[in-house]
Amino acid sequence: MTALVTGASGGLGRAVAVALAAAGHDVGVHYRGDADGADATAAEVVAAGRRAVTLHADLATDDPAACDRVCADLLAAGEEALGVPDVVVLNAFPQHHVAWDELDAAAWDDYHRGGLRPTAVLLRQAAARMPVGGSVVVVGSIEGSRPMPTHTPYAVAKAALEHLVRAAAQELGPRGVRVVGVAPGLVARDGLEEAWPEGVARYRAAAALGRPVTPEEVAATVAFLASGDASGITGTTVTVDAGWSAAPGW
Ligand SMILES: NC(=O)c1ccc[n+]([C@@H]2O[C@H](COP(=O)([O-])OP(=O)(O)OC[C@H]3O[C@@H](n4cnc5c(N)ncnc54)[C@H](OP(=O)(O)O)[C@@H]3O)[C@@H](O)[C@H]2O)c1
Repeated sequence: MTALVTGASGGLGRAVAVALAAAGHDVGVHYRGDADGADATAAEVVAAGRRAVTLHADLATDDPAACDRVCADLLAAGEEALGVPDVVVLNAFPQHHVAWDELDAAAWDDYHRGGLRPTAVLLRQAAARMPVGGSVVVVGSIEGSRPMPTHTPYAVAKAALEHLVRAAAQELGPRGVRVVGVAPGLVARDGLEEAWPEGVARYRAAAALGRPVTPEEVAATVAFLASGDASGITGTTVTVDAGWSAAPGW
């Protein structure tokens, strides 16, 4: 089995690559800026007994034709090294804050050209090559349903991903390809508590389990949804947030 994971040089993408390797996939490790991080992810995949290749691509492009080309080149490079993937995880996404008063057209465009557009293009292109039984997992966010202040274009783009999952699942179901979303809550990482103590404290207070989720918990869900064990699941987004979204919120 073969998988491609975008944005896999660290964070959640690395955990997903490792979980898919443990499930028996060779893994294409896509990255943009962090080649050392991608190498470290690939080394973990190899340590799990699978093959890995690192694949560089900046998915943010100014014109649509370039987006089509960059996505096609990325998939072709992965295929040449490891074969056609039966699992693709679309995890790469811009993440920066924009104050409401600074929310100009360029800020909106950043999330279209670097987030929504390449995710949608990669989904269509990858699914077109996939064997029957293949799956695409799109990494969304709890902000797709509950946006935070200063995250407006991020949250709007993540909401659009949930709709993309529904729409694409209908198009691809007849071809035997499933499309599923995963919406993580706050994901723990080294230094998060120090960098954002008040945010983590608020999350702990709201989440039913009293903590953020770990990258491994989200990755295990991605690996399950990508697998044949989830053969009846398509067109929906599964929340992994330690119960944060179950809180009444008032
Ligand atoms: N961390 C959380 O609490 C959290 C919560 C909910 C959802 N998520 C989602 O989880 C996913 C992974 O996030 P993370 O927390 O692991 O953060 P991260 O480590 O910053 O991962 C984001 C990845 O996307 C890549 N990327 C961004 N723009 C790109 C572009 N134009 N072209 C190619 N790659 C690009 C980044 O590459 P570079 O490193 O080269 O920039 C990076 O590898 C994202 O979809 C994020 O929205 C995260």
